[in-house]
Amino acid sequence: LSAPFQLARFCPGFADIAPVPLSDRPTPVRAEPGLARALGLGALLVKREDLSSRVYGGAKVRNLEFLLGAAERAGARGVVTLGAAGSHHVLTTAIFARARGLAVRAVLFPQPSTREVEENARILPALGVEVWCLRSLLAVPWAWWRARRRPLGGALPHVIAPGGTSPLGVLGAAEAFLEVVTLLEAGEVPRPECVVVPAGSGGTLAGILAGRALVASDLEVIGVRVVPRVVVGPLRVRRQARRALALLEALGAPALVPAAPGWISDAAGPGYARPTDEADRWTRVTQAEAGFRAETTYTGKALAALARPALRGRRVLFWNTFSAVDPVLPTVPHRIRGA
Ligand SMILES: Cc1ncc(COP(=O)(O)O)c(C=O)c1O
Repeated sequence: LSAPFQLARFCPGFADIAPVPLSDRPTPVRAEPGLARALGLGALLVKREDLSSRVYGGAKVRNLEFLLGAAERAGARGVVTLGAAGSHHVLTTAIFARARGLAVRAVLFPQPSTREVEENARILPALGVEVWCLRSLLAVPWAWWRARRRPLGGALPHVIAPGGTSPLGVLGAAEAFLEVVTLLEAGEVPRPECVVVPAGSGGTLAGILAGRALVASDLEVIGVRVVPRVVVGPLRVRRQARRALALLEALGAPALVPAAPGWISDAAGPGYARPTDEADRWTRVTQAEAGFRAETTYTGKALAALARPALRGRRVLFWNTFSAVDPVLPTVPHRIRGA
């Protein structure tokens, strides 16, 4: 059973955005001395967002607690979202929306071939997702416009932003940050100096910055850009955090200003989902030293960034965003609400 949402303590109107419980909250924080040594860090803690669900974990489950809560409150019969062909966000949305009886439409744009691309090609149709596979990135604006306006299950679908990154969606990571603060305050884990997070759409990082502002934490929060520069940057992330805090303020939380994130921008390699030798190497070392898996699009590149001279000797909390488990799919088709 999941713990109550801690965000409720900060906003009297929290019930208005009632998230649905999907994750095993709180996720643990574990010390990894072997991997810390290999990376040259003073200490390494890992926020195990990979363990957020036994069905399919990862950081995106958090966003969906809020986003599917909103869809259900709006009486939606289906949801539509957008992502790269190998998107974990799209896969996570499909799994949890279908489990809650919602139809799903997914608009997918091409990316380099990875294990995730094959996984999505196999699993999304098996879940009954209406998949729109685009041939080019150029087709995205028109397809995304149409996908939001074409009925699904007899009504217009509820829109879930790419990456689940909206002011509401990023509250999932804010909640997860509050869990870290609870452990620190109880003295259950040693205090890190900084939190390091892979930044794709930047939503996880924005949510952490919002959570940090809520509790007036002085932990430094650092994003590792793993996508091209045009997709994400520290200013955009800070704006996302500001919008999330504005949403909470409308629910009665105090008015707060998020800090700017620290930023590592040279770990993305040749492009989105193109592995780097470093990411490959640190994915293998992580498995050997700490026993959790990484992939080379997001977490592998962020782990590789931990080995950079700028972080040498520092006490780091790494935000592990990639599911520890392959998706566990139901053996019977899900019921579609209203079908
Ligand atoms: C495993 C993993 N890590 C990190 C990210 C990036 O998170 P965000 O889009 O919140 O920046 C993603 C995004 O899909 C992801 O799948």
